[in-house]
Amino acid sequence: MLDITKIRSSIPGCNHHIHFNNAGSSLPDQSVIDAITKYMNEEAIIGGYELMNKHADALEQTYHSIAKMIGAQRNEIALFQSATAAWAAVFNALSFKPGDEVLCSEAEYASNYLNFLRKQKKEGIVIKVVPSDEDGCLDPLLLEEMMNPKVKLIAITHVPSNGGLINPVSEVGAIAKKHNCLYLLDACQAVGQIPIDVKNIDCDFLAVTGRKYLRAPRGTGFLFIKSSVVEEMDPTVLDSYAANWLSKSEYKLEPGAKRFELFETNKSLQLGLGAAVDYYLAQGPKECYLRIRKLAKRLRNGLAEIDGVTCADIGREKCGIVTFRKENWDSNKLKEFLFDKGIYTSTIFPTAALIDAQKRGLKSLVRASVHYFNTEKEVDQLLTVLKSM
Ligand SMILES: Cc1ncc(COP(=O)(O)O)c(C=O)c1O
Repeated sequence: MLDITKIRSSIPGCNHHIHFNNAGSSLPDQSVIDAITKYMNEEAIIGGYELMNKHADALEQTYHSIAKMIGAQRNEIALFQSATAAWAAVFNALSFKPGDEVLCSEAEYASNYLNFLRKQKKEGIVIKVVPSDEDGCLDPLLLEEMMNPKVKLIAITHVPSNGGLINPVSEVGAIAKKHNCLYLLDACQAVGQIPIDVKNIDCDFLAVTGRKYLRAPRGTGFLFIKSSVVEEMDPTVLDSYAANWLSKSEYKLEPGAKRFELFETNKSLQLGLGAAVDYYLAQGPKECYLRIRKLAKRLRNGLAEIDGVTCADIGREKCGIVTFRKENWDSNKLKEFLFDKGIYTSTIFPTAALIDAQKRGLKSLVRASVHYFNTEKEVDQLLTVLKSM
């Protein structure tokens, strides 16, 4: 059982406003802030390399914590500064021939699709979008029908930026495995929100950011690469941390996911990411998810009762990302109106997930993404403001 009063008492931001922009960038726990600032202060005195050596074990622990959180091994984790950096490191390291097919979801995130388009232009890959079922979820039956020897990669988004949808990632994993096809999952909005086990999903790669539902600092993220595929992977950027220089004509890549990392990173943020993951594990991922869903349901039910307000979420089991529009209101103006009332949301534009937005004829939406630390009272305050307008 989550102790919401205790949880909120160690989130300085909770005293400042109502934070419903957790899918944008959430609020950190005090333990995360302390881990970062303590390290940075000490670094300024001791020196960057010396402090890194002094805290080698604590820095290493971040990898173990992430591995534990997603059911992976330590050497399957590489740290990055964002989900896109992690996702693109894998995607760009894969080699494609003209005509090779990449299958993605209708809810595909903008940056992923931009990289598909780039590969289409430069290397002649064929992008195919797997249609969704009547609920809006990627349809595994149609995916199965689309599988053929030309499909080199299934790359889908678990939870999109633009709503409460959750794609059936384990069903997709089973199909990928059956056809011996690589599977790259964008779990940017999922990790920290929905309990994740990469063995159960059976993905080869998983890209995640720190600042959203994990409540880690900005500028953090990570990549999971299954140990059985990593030795075949040739990263596009190397430094002498990722590879060893053996002679005038030889080098050797580091084993495991380490070959995707560069030497220079912000170590205080690495500790902050580790602290955020440890905090999440201590709260209990299942409990966190149940509460997020409960709050989101309360919000959706409330929105349904307000005249002129329409919830835009699709999917079966919906997550904490709630999107809506209000008649005669520009969504960006509405977001600013709410901001002035101390309720922080965000505006979602069609370009966040253009294929889905065009299919559904969506214009901009207000996104109120709830977290487990939010309260029923905060949800009701948002509903009251919307009702009173
Ligand atoms: C579904 C999804 N994937 C990827 C990203 C990109 O994350 P980052 O900004 O950390 O690269 C986002 C960001 O909003 C997202 O919502």
